[in-house]
Amino acid sequence: MKYKAMTAFAALAISAPIAFAGGADDDTLAIDGQEMITKTAAPAHMEETGIDTIISGWHFREDDTQSMQADTFDNPGMIAVDQAMDAWNTVEGSAEKSCASCHEGPESMQGVRAVYPKWNEEAGEVRTLAMQINDCRTNQMGADAYKYDSGPMAAMEALIAVQSRGMPVNVAIDGPVAETWEKGKELYYTRTGQLELSCASCHEENYGNYIRADHLSQGQINGFPTYRLKNAKLNTVHGRFKGCVRDTRAETYSPGSPEFVALELYVASRGNGLSVEGPSVRN
Ligand code: HEC
Ligand code: HEC
Repeated sequence: MKYKAMTAFAALAISAPIAFAGGADDDTLAIDGQEMITKTAAPAHMEETGIDTIISGWHFREDDTQSMQADTFDNPGMIAVDQAMDAWNTVEGSAEKSCASCHEGPESMQGVRAVYPKWNEEAGEVRTLAMQINDCRTNQMGADAYKYDSGPMAAMEALIAVQSRGMPVNVAIDGPVAETWEKGKELYYTRTGQLELSCASCHEENYGNYIRADHLSQGQINGFPTYRLKNAKLNTVHGRFKGCVRDTRAETYSPGSPEFVALELYVASRGNGLSVEGPSVRN
């Protein structure tokens, strides 16, 4: 087992950092002057992981990528926020309503990003922000759902995230969501694919190390959606999960699947206490 895991890492060429021990730098992130919580004490449920400090992915990026996030004019993800602002006010669907018809301005969404995924009592399900947006589109507006990890969905999530910028992530893990949270945790630690790697193999045991040329972070989602320089667009949480699972050469779950919803809840809870940073900038 141990031998297998080592060959997998050898295959992926994980190596210890040369320049800095521990990996995360000591810079501070202020967006338009507002300071973000990018490092803080790990939530109690992570005690068994050995991680005592949770760290935003921002700390693992190069200086020029980091600085793009500090100023909203330099953040390419903000273009999508403007587009979503138009969508917010656009009447669509058989009920002839826009988001604004019921919610007024997007400021009404303050605090929302920080607590999703969360339990919806009426539907009796754990809802991601994307599921809630689509519920409003289909059931309240009579409009078509956005494709789960599409550009318009990522843009709307970004507009909603901005309203909570700086607020600490605070998803509930007990009560009616407990079962889903446990399922997400199990998925996080399940080794998959030819390489037999779990999320934890990279983001818990090896953050701070390099994998190929990439500096491994804790795989936090407080910065989502993220604008990636690599594909020059906003990326959703489930889009990122899909890419990471694929890197282990495993079959992946699809965006919006119950498995990814559970995984999102669990991963979000590992970031409880970090600021909402979306849309963030990553490589
Ligand atoms: C016809 C009215 C209506 C329209 C139009 C509508 N919504 Fe909603 N929305 C609601 C209701 C009702 C709720 C549930 C309120 C509650 O219980 O918190 C809700 C809840 C939400 C929430 C969750 C808020 C929270 O506190 O958890 C989000 C996010 C949201 N809507 C986004 C949107 C977006 C984005 C659009 C446009 C694409 C939209 N809604 C269009 C009625 C509407
Ligand atoms: C083979 C190693 C590997 C595995 C296994 C892996 N990832 Fe990743 N992941 C990466 C790399 C490399 C990156 C890009 C650098 C970084 O942010 O860590 C990344 C990035 C991420 C990010 C973006 C972080 C940010 O700040 O934008 C998230 C979220 C993430 N991974 C979640 C997961 C989850 C959940 C799993 C398990 C399903 C997983 N990863 C499995 C290598 C891996």
